Order: sequence, then C-alpha cells, then structure tokens
Amino acid sequence: MSDASSGAIDSVLQEQRVFPPPMEFSKSAHVHSIDEYRQMYKESIENPEAFWGKMAEQLHWFKKWDRVLDWKPPFAKWFVGGKLNVSYNCLDLQIERGNGDKAAILWEGEPVGGMPGTGGAVHRISYQQLRDMVCRFANGLKSLGVKKGDRVTIYMPMVPEAAVAMLGCARIGAAHSVIFGGFSSQAIADRVEDAQSDIIITADGGFRRGQIVPLKQNVDDALTKTNRVRKVIVLERVGATPERPHKIQWVEGRDVWWHELVQKQSTECPAEPMDAEDTLFVLYTSGSTGKPKGILHTTGGFLLGVQSTSKYVFDLRPDDVYWCSADVGWITGHSYVVYGLLSNGATTLMYEGAPNFPDFSRFWSLIERHRVTIFYTAPTAIRAFMRAGREFVDRHDLRSLRLLGTVGEPINPEAWMWYRDVVGHGRCPIVDTWWQTETGMIMITPLPGATPTKPGTATLPFFGVDAAIVDRSGKEMAANQGGLLVIRKPWPAMLRGIFNDPDRYQKQYWSDVPNMYFTGDGARRDQDGYFWIMGRVDDVINVSGHRLGTMEIESALVAHPSVAEAAVVGMPHEMKGQGIAAFVTLDADKTPNEELKKELINWVGKQIGSLAKPDQIRFAEALPKTRSGKIMRRLLKELATNGQVAGDVTTLEDYSVLAKLRDKEES
Ligand code: WT7
Repeated sequence: MSDASSGAIDSVLQEQRVFPPPMEFSKSAHVHSIDEYRQMYKESIENPEAFWGKMAEQLHWFKKWDRVLDWKPPFAKWFVGGKLNVSYNCLDLQIERGNGDKAAILWEGEPVGGMPGTGGAVHRISYQQLRDMVCRFANGLKSLGVKKGDRVTIYMPMVPEAAVAMLGCARIGAAHSVIFGGFSSQAIADRVEDAQSDIIITADGGFRRGQIVPLKQNVDDALTKTNRVRKVIVLERVGATPERPHKIQWVEGRDVWWHELVQKQSTECPAEPMDAEDTLFVLYTSGSTGKPKGILHTTGGFLLGVQSTSKYVFDLRPDDVYWCSADVGWITGHSYVVYGLLSNGATTLMYEGAPNFPDFSRFWSLIERHRVTIFYTAPTAIRAFMRAGREFVDRHDLRSLRLLGTVGEPINPEAWMWYRDVVGHGRCPIVDTWWQTETGMIMITPLPGATPTKPGTATLPFFGVDAAIVDRSGKEMAANQGGLLVIRKPWPAMLRGIFNDPDRYQKQYWSDVPNMYFTGDGARRDQDGYFWIMGRVDDVINVSGHRLGTMEIESALVAHPSVAEAAVVGMPHEMKGQGIAAFVTLDADKTPNEELKKELINWVGKQIGSLAKPDQIRFAEALPKTRSGKIMRRLLKELATNGQVAGDVTTLEDYSVLAKLRDKEES
C-alpha cells in the first residue's frame, strides 16, 4: 500500500474519533456542558431578540437601543436607535473596569538581536497607554481634516500602531479600510478608488522573513495610478541605520510622519457616539467577479458579535495571554486580534513577522516567552510546522497553553491530531472555527468546555446562528448528504452590504437559495449534527487560508500584452490546501517558453500580490469551451488535479478536442 492511500485511511479513522472536553477545562468554562450549550442555543434561536439584547448589556452604550432587530429580509438592522463607540468599549470601558494597567497589547518585532530563541524587540502596552496613543492619533487625524463618515486606508505592518490606527478611526467615526501588506500597488490603487479614500496610513517598511517590505514605496507607486489621496501618514518602523540604509521618497505637503503628527496632540479625544448601524469598516475580499468587493460592517452588531464569540469560543479568563497569528489586514485580524479581544479586556499578542524566521521554532519560542495561553492559527501553518518536524516544537516549554484554535480552511485530520498531540500535548481542546469576512464573527465552532470534538469538523453553530445544509431550492439535506451551507436567520455581525454597490448584496448572497444567506461553501452534517465543510463551490479559491477569486487572477493575466485568454482554477495542494493553476492561450505571434511562464507568474504578483502567483501555468492552443462559448472549468479542474504537466513547454496542449467530446456527452 502506498503512503498516500494509507494516509487517506488513517484520515477516515481519525474523523471517527471523538474527544470529550477535558474535565478540568469544563469545570471553570463559561459553558460547562453540551446540554448547557443546547439549552442556550435553543433559547437564542427561539428568541434571538431577547438573547442578543441580554448579551448586549455587556457593552457600553451612550444611548440604549429602541429595538434589538429590524429584519426586512435580506436587510437587517441591529440595536436600532442605540449609540455607542467601539474604541470607547475597547479602551475606556476596560479602564473603568479597573484594567488600566493590564497589558492590552504585547508585541514582538521580527528581527532577532541576540542569540537564537531570544526573540525580537518587545513592547507591552497597557490599556491606559493604548487609550492615550489612540486619542493622540485620533486628534492627529482630525487635524488633517478627517471627519466622521470618511474612509481611511490603512496599509501597515503588524505593529501596535496598526491597531492604534484602526481604533483611532473608530474613535472619531471614520471607517477604516485595511489593506493587507502583501498586496501590490495596483491593488492599493483599486481599493483606494473604490472606497473613495483620501488618506492612507502606512509605514516606511515592515520586516518579513528578514527582508524589508517596502510599504511606503508601494503606496508611492499606487499614488501614480490614482490622484484621490491627499495625505499619507508614515510610521517610522524600519528607519535607516549605517549598516542598513533605507531610503524612502518624500512628497512635501502630502506625506506626514506619524510621530510628528501625534507629538503635540492631547491624550483626550472624546469618543464619537455612533449610531449602532453606522459603518465601522470596509474590508475588501475576493469574490466570483474580477474585482474584490468592499464588505461593509457596522458598529453595534459587529462589536457584539466579536465580543461574545471571543468570550465563549476562546473561553476568555482575566489572566489569559491570547495570540492569533493572523495579520490585521484580514478579517481574522480585525475580529480576533483587535476588536473581540480588547472589548473583553484581554491581552492580545501581536507578532510582526514570519513563522519560520529565523527558523521554525519562532512561534513556539514566542509562546514560551510570552506565556501564551490561547493560540489561534491557520491549518496551512500547522501543515508547514508538521513538515518542518516536531523537534522545533519539542525544544520549547508550551505548558502555558490551554486552548488551541484554527481558522481559514478545512483542517485535515492528520494536522488536527498533530496540533493536538505535539503542540497541545493532548491537554488542550481544539476549536476549529468556521466563518467568513462577510459573517464578521465565528459562526460554527465548538465551545471548548462543552462540545466533544472530532478531527476535521467545525462541529456546531454558535448561539443565534441558524446554519443548515440545503439544496438549491432551500430544502434541508438528510444527514451526511452534501449540500450548500446557508444561514437562515440574521446574526449581529453580518455584513450590511457591499460598499459602492448596493444592488450586489442581495444578488450575491441572498439569491442562489431563496431567502437564505448562501456562504459559497459546500458542506454536510453528520449523524450528530456536526458540520463538515467541504470547501468553496463558487469561483473562489482558498490558498493557504487566503481567499482569491479565479476571475481576479484571470483579469490580471489577460492584462499582460502576450496573453490572449486565461482560465484559472484551484487544484489540491498538499501544503497550501489549494494551489492555483492557470491555463493560458497566447497572442498568435507569441511563443510559449519557460521565461514567459516566469514572467507571467511575476506579473500576477505585481498586479495583485505574491499570494496570487499561480503555482502552474499551462500554455494551451485553445481553451475548452461549450458550444455557447463558456469555458469548461470543471474540465480544467480535472486536468489540473489529475493531468500531467507537460514537461516540454513548447508543446501546446490542445483542449478544444476534449471540449468537443465533453460537449457531445453533455448534450
Ligand atoms: C472562507 C472564508 C474567517 C476568517 C478567515 C477566512 C473557508 C474559513 C474555515 C474552517 C473550513 C473554512 C470557507 C469560507 N473557511 N474557516 N474552519 N473550515 N473552511 O475568511 O477569507 O472570508 O474566507 O474560508 O471556505 O467560506 P475569508
């Protein structure tokens, strides 16, 4: 038997294992048993307004709401008439509760100064200090003319100032649009245009895997493609030293140093009372069209959604040190690095750099040195650590850990077991959390003191989440029958729309299945009601937990002067979950060669960002199309998954023949 097939059998056996929550954990957990969960879940579904109204009392409101929910499908308004401020909840409220001196943010930079294992520079920022930083920065924003309702773009490394920038916007009622630092200048320009944002906050650079990411330079390049931006705030993160000169361009009148902006500002900045339904942020994510869409999240419902899920899913206790390894440029960073944790008065650790810098022990060294108790990461990272070998983990004392979490993509049972045994020493419950940029909050997840877990399933819905597996007509599937994953009732942190494109919200999310929110995922429920996510069924692919639209990559490819047509599909990838395969036809006068392949891969990197670089480029004579001219993606997916890559790139693969055969079969 080959290794691969015995792996598959192991996987099936592992999926059938059940791990009850450890007794010690359940005793002091917020929810102690599966019966308690079921009771609370039942109440939350039968009377969502009573349930969420009670939950919302944990937040600070300048003015209490008149109505918990106003639901005119598919448009929801939560906490109608209520007024609150997210930054007030994350800072002032925590200080009032006596947590002023508690660490809000622990941060570690990537560069290591001394011996291996000693780590990088560390900052500890208390709630009081964070409040002062946020107020000064918010006043700085005001001094530049930023007003309530404006959109502010944030393109920063993983430094505390990224959180300060977000909270500073929230304090004065400006919406932020954070762009992941791995995106290219073209991607910045597109998002700035779409969000109609005239301010960008960035840094002179960031450290990643020992290199400097030229953030400021990317912004400068982006601003040659749009003239909407009038001010660029620049944090000095990298600086220049004699050994490492780091020059950036400076545009007088447009560019402002962060430290100069905040220098003379007061540490008092009143928190703007925001309507519960005012926009908190816009976050761009890939969909099934060529252009990323700005997902719109509002103030009250979002904050309640992330505050309550953080508390219950991570089972937060006052002395926890929580670390989520996601970048603030993704929704995970918004919800579960910044807002969910600070609104609970927790300590959130931020790490600037790569998991394997200077080597694969960095994460474990961080956990050991900062006494991390809760660790939340992506399956793709776990697979990379597995491959690197357990010796990197074993060198460290990880006894501080009490809970482990995963997010972003389905986790294979082998990785789940490795995480549990090697990292958690079999002691820590694992929460496999399913959710999306659009859902804002965790939707399907175990509660660690209550839910028995099985490797590979996100288990059961969170309170108030009416998740189901249905067919196209909305009819619920029987146990273990695959179908579409939908949500049938509104939830507080749900997206309120797509920025700049009001019509698309309904069409995109509430039309595939009548009157239900369609997630884009396929899944099944097992005999215990547990949800097993099978992955996207639309034209979205998930590469290392990062979401990309196939159309977006196709648009980037056809923008290249040599490319005539392109079709992009996902294919299974051992480490990344999914890889990217691009089928390309060239203009008649162009000939395929290795060099052009490389050029196209780098081209996509420049158009979108390195994360979108295809793993495979296959030159084709013609793309397989149906008689009506539609590219047969399923056929290409099959080819990318099972077909061989032609060793000789000068031989063009001709799929039009296959298409004709398939066309006949199907008609
Ligand atoms: C898509 C959403 C949610 C933050 C990170 C991703 C996939 C997410 C899981 C999980 C299986 C998962 C889904 C979903 N996904 N979590 N625990 N198990 N799949 O957010 O970029 O909006 O992507 O990620 O396919 O639709 P996103």
